[in-house]
Amino acid sequence: SDFHHIGNKLLKWYDKNARDLPFRKTKDPYKIWICEIVFQQTRIAQGLNHYNNFIERFPDVQTLAESPEDEVLLYWKGLGYYSRAINIHKASQQIINDYDGVFPSDYDEILKLKGIGKYTAAAVSSICFGGKMPAVDGNFYRVLSRIFADDFDISNSRAFNYFSELSNLIMPENVGDFNQAMMDLGSEICKPKNPLCRECPVNDDCLAFSLNKVSEFPVKTKK
Ligand code: ADE
Repeated sequence: SDFHHIGNKLLKWYDKNARDLPFRKTKDPYKIWICEIVFQQTRIAQGLNHYNNFIERFPDVQTLAESPEDEVLLYWKGLGYYSRAINIHKASQQIINDYDGVFPSDYDEILKLKGIGKYTAAAVSSICFGGKMPAVDGNFYRVLSRIFADDFDISNSRAFNYFSELSNLIMPENVGDFNQAMMDLGSEICKPKNPLCRECPVNDDCLAFSLNKVSEFPVKTKK
């Protein structure tokens, strides 16, 4: 059977309900990269001022690469996980030295940048360059495990590959918007606790919801 209508419903929902975020107005890979690094580990409301100040002070890869690390760390103050800032700074110099200052467009090239993992490479390549990789993170695990009432253990080291495959079942053409729709659905509707299933655009397609077992997913055995 075919589940792609689920991805298309998510896109329709996203068109109407996308959160109004500063980085939604741009396809500049530099800005999308910074936002993905900031907001993968920091809540939007908590990190938005930091993000805006960072982009204002370091508006492009060149400016960032030429700035001293101390100053980059100063702008990161309060966000925590400072290795993120050090890696961003190193990666900006990598882009200058290895890519003539032009942000790479290919998923595999983006993945070579310091501090960029599969999630970030997928997000930047899909949002900015029409890449087709799913940006799999905890939101994907939660949304997909509920839609398919799938008890695959998300603490299993194979979970990333497993849920990447599962996401292909529902993935529409526009993967950049799909990835961001999954992020928004995961944080606004399909929340870890007290999900808003009555407002969910795909509640008709959600097996866990129809079984009244949403709270049983995702399955996680180890901490
Ligand atoms: N969190 C991390 N990246 C995001 C994005 N592009 N949209 C919404 N939330 C996010």
